[in-house]
Amino acid sequence: VDIHAFRRELITWFESEMRDLPWRQDQDPYKVWVSEIMLQQTKVDTVIPYFNRFMEQFPTVHDLAEAEEQQVLKAWEGLGYYSRARNLQNAVQEVVATYGGKVPDNEEQLSSLKGIGPYTKGAILSIAYNQPEPAVDGNVMRVLSRIYFIEEDIAKPKARKTFEAILRELIDPDNPSYFNQGLMELGALVCTPKSPSCLLCPVQAHCEGFKLGRQTELPIKITK
Ligand code: ADE
Repeated sequence: VDIHAFRRELITWFESEMRDLPWRQDQDPYKVWVSEIMLQQTKVDTVIPYFNRFMEQFPTVHDLAEAEEQQVLKAWEGLGYYSRARNLQNAVQEVVATYGGKVPDNEEQLSSLKGIGPYTKGAILSIAYNQPEPAVDGNVMRVLSRIYFIEEDIAKPKARKTFEAILRELIDPDNPSYFNQGLMELGALVCTPKSPSCLLCPVQAHCEGFKLGRQTELPIKITK
């Protein structure tokens, strides 16, 4: 992979093709956080109206921190996995109590918050704070496993480390936010699970899986 060309081609593509999503209106770390939590087990199209209502009802960390838990759960109704909502409110209360209402901009403090794992932490640091941190979710593992022809079982917990190590070299230090969002967007729009649109892919020239004609064999996920 020509790293410099890859970064440039991915980001240029993202700038022209990115979907106009409500959490992309600004870089408010609270909005990035809420959107990433909602998107963890729920599709973009479903999340959009929930996200918009949630932001009307709880526009800032202060509003969410002070809300009745029942109101928050009600706003989450239909999204499922309600522990996400409880953890989010608990974490936001911690942000208000401990950090004066500013969403932390570092790994240690973010990691201490309920419901924030390595993926969410990386997404907040890169998208909201433009720090060169990897954000590895299933989409990103699919894209990178094809680009680098990685045959590791992505169901194994340690697989994330493999992809984080690659990203620490590959991520664009000049625009980590668009780089990470570009990878996510590529996974959502082009490098899809069943029939990827390789002929439309901005980084096809760098893709080992495509070169071998074996892109649809990846990622390898051995279900338990
Ligand atoms: N999936 C996970 N995070 C996302 C984001 N920020 N935008 C679109 N899809 C996503």
